[in-house]
Amino acid sequence: MERQISILQQEALLKFSNCTSTAELEQIFLQYFGASGSFTRLLKDFKNIPENQRPKLGKLANMVKKELETAYSLKKEKIIKAQSEETIDVTIPGNEPPMGHLHIVTQAIEEIDRIFSQIGFTRVRYREIEWDWYSFGSLNFPPDHPARDDFETFFIDAAPLPKYGRMLLSPHTSSGQVREMERMHSRPPIRMINIAKCYRPNWDISHTPMFHQFEGLVVDEGINITHLKGTMDYFAKQYFGPERKTRLRPFHFQFTEPSFEVDITCGVCLGKGTLPDGQKCKYCKEGWLELGGSGMVHPNVLAAGKIDPKKYTGFAFGWGVERTYMMKSGTKLDDNRLLYTNDIRFLEQF
Ligand code: DAH
Repeated sequence: MERQISILQQEALLKFSNCTSTAELEQIFLQYFGASGSFTRLLKDFKNIPENQRPKLGKLANMVKKELETAYSLKKEKIIKAQSEETIDVTIPGNEPPMGHLHIVTQAIEEIDRIFSQIGFTRVRYREIEWDWYSFGSLNFPPDHPARDDFETFFIDAAPLPKYGRMLLSPHTSSGQVREMERMHSRPPIRMINIAKCYRPNWDISHTPMFHQFEGLVVDEGINITHLKGTMDYFAKQYFGPERKTRLRPFHFQFTEPSFEVDITCGVCLGKGTLPDGQKCKYCKEGWLELGGSGMVHPNVLAAGKIDPKKYTGFAFGWGVERTYMMKSGTKLDDNRLLYTNDIRFLEQF
């Protein structure tokens, strides 16, 4: 018993002296003197020791208890005093907050904007909530065209307008073509680059329901396919590098005639389709990668924007920002949805 008291005494004194806050100190005090504290339990055991030893041990226990209580009070005073004397050193450097950076899609948009502004395109941004007229009707889509299906476009539950049709979420930046003609009071020259959010009801590893496109529109007297091709080559060399080339592949779009898909030479095999060791390039299809759509503006579209198709001609193109960025960086995402789930561990890699 004597030994036990002495062990508890040493242990408690040590713990008290190591304390840095009153809360901690009180908690330790209770570990010894609380209702089930170790010192309290020891005193309860007194009834089990021989009667002749009790006076001696009782005296010892009381002494130790007093000593510990005094040590506790002194320590408490000391902590309180130290806290009130604590000074703030204003010269200590603060914690540096982690630096963020622009989202990769914003970085790509800024670069695309810069490249086109250098050749006189005006950056615009048209609305995400649109009318059927701007997204389809004015772009030469017949009334029964499947793009209007609910599977391709988000329609908004609002009353349609006789002139503009149903309200929807713009499924492509082409919706900005006739809006730009109107903004320019139907007076070319027009050189527009519309970079905006687009929406389509797709959600899988290669599609997000919201994505971005950039749309070029040039209208003036005497505009022809060579201007389109020259602009494509200029963009490809500026954005992807001077060694890259483009080609126009015949295609179909409602709002352009003729229409093309724009391909760019692969950055890995540089358009050869094979690698130096004779192996087939896995990154592309025979040396080419598909960038997006383009074509000469359909006369009906010019007419919808009240521009005389006999006097003026134009070209247009529209590509996905995310896709164009991935093609440049060679980033192959297992899941495109990663771009918009805001996981810092992913985003900070770019
Ligand atoms: N709007 C088309 C799409 O989303 C892309 C496109 C094709 C835009 C041809 C154009 C164009 O301006 O001329 O798939």
